[in-house]
Amino acid sequence: MARFMVVGGQRLQGRINVSGSKNASLPILAATLLNPGESLIHGVPQLRDVDVMCEVLQYLGARVTREGGTIRVDAGQINCWEVSEELTRKMRASNLVLGPMLGRFKKMTVSHPGGCDIGSRPMNLHLKGMTSLGARITEKFGYITAQTDIVRGAEIHLDMPSVGATENIMMAAALSKGITRIRNAAREPEIVDLQNFLNKMGADIKGAGTDIIKIKGVSSLGSTAHTVIPDRIEAGTHMIAAAITCGDVTVANVIPEHVESLIAKLREAGVQITVGDDTIRVSARGRPGAVDIKTLFYPGFPTDMQPQIMALLTMADGTSIISEMVFENRYKHVSEFRRMGADIKVEGQTAIIKGVTKLSGAVVEASDLRAGAALVLAAMAADNGSVIENIDHIDRGYEKLERKYSALGARIIRVHS
Ligand code: EPZ
Repeated sequence: MARFMVVGGQRLQGRINVSGSKNASLPILAATLLNPGESLIHGVPQLRDVDVMCEVLQYLGARVTREGGTIRVDAGQINCWEVSEELTRKMRASNLVLGPMLGRFKKMTVSHPGGCDIGSRPMNLHLKGMTSLGARITEKFGYITAQTDIVRGAEIHLDMPSVGATENIMMAAALSKGITRIRNAAREPEIVDLQNFLNKMGADIKGAGTDIIKIKGVSSLGSTAHTVIPDRIEAGTHMIAAAITCGDVTVANVIPEHVESLIAKLREAGVQITVGDDTIRVSARGRPGAVDIKTLFYPGFPTDMQPQIMALLTMADGTSIISEMVFENRYKHVSEFRRMGADIKVEGQTAIIKGVTKLSGAVVEASDLRAGAALVLAAMAADNGSVIENIDHIDRGYEKLERKYSALGARIIRVHS
């Protein structure tokens, strides 16, 4: 696997553009399966996870072509109703094809995604939704099959506002007979983007962004073009890159309301934030103040920003407490921060971070996508040099991260092993 070599100590300065959202692109690409014609998706980031989703669509028989940020999907000739375990193990979000395939073809087989480095990642809420819509679920040899004669509207209450389960149910119900209401639905901006795409295809969905989503089934969905929203987690990562290097960076192509919880926390820590229409300027001098963080479902503080804000707080002037309330095992990055001199104690879901004046460079390993990004942030702020191993994890969710940060003055290069 490739690695990053980083020499810390540079203050990042300048302007950085945010790419399209990975977590909006993946469900929207899956939703193209609902249309027997051609769909055009613009502003899609060049990421490994997007490549895997395109591989899944092709595996099912769709024709997929890519030109820069535009992906064209023709789902007219679907000839397979099963996603292999190998593809699912590459990316858990492959299971987002379950809903659209059940909605259009009334049957689909996916593989249990298995756990990952941040938690067990069950699918029980996805399956509860499919069952409510009339599907019979059978599980064998690690595969899950959902099948029905008719997808019928239903009242569905989610025990937890699961993003993936909300998305799968929306897509399965779009072509159903009748009306479906999802209560305790996820409220993330990516859910709103999916609703907008589905409605442009001819669906009748209201309420995305709130905790009740109403889907009135229609008989068919057609072709459309859509540009995905900017990636709020990438934007937040860059905002922290500016703060942790005591830099002065304007993050462009961002929807400020999507990162409101982070703006509030960075201001609480004494970071200067200036909000424009589609830009956020972040500047910092000296150590941030200590703050307490509790990760929650949107619009709470995002779990996908927890490793990154922890990187900043390792050098805060005081003690911070982070409570990870969404995933049960999302502290793999703590041991790596400790190797850089951080003073962090983990007790269950809580991390107690005693700020140190400076981290020192070390050889560290990325365990997952966001932990890897957080190690880049820490390495850019640390004294001396660092090596970050397993950066393929980072490439899953960040487009050319080292080039973006080098353009702001960081000393970071990619080395292929
Ligand atoms: C989405 O994952 C994101 N991925 C994740 O981003 C993000 O961390 C997560 O939402 C939470 O915001 C994509 O959108 C592709 P969930 P998802 O279902 O849908 C439990 C990244 O870094 N749960 O909202 O898989 C689950 O265990 C990735 O970009 C059930 O119990 O997350 C977790 O504790 C990492 N049963 C909580 O809900 C289920 O059936 C939230 O999971 C489903 C989920």
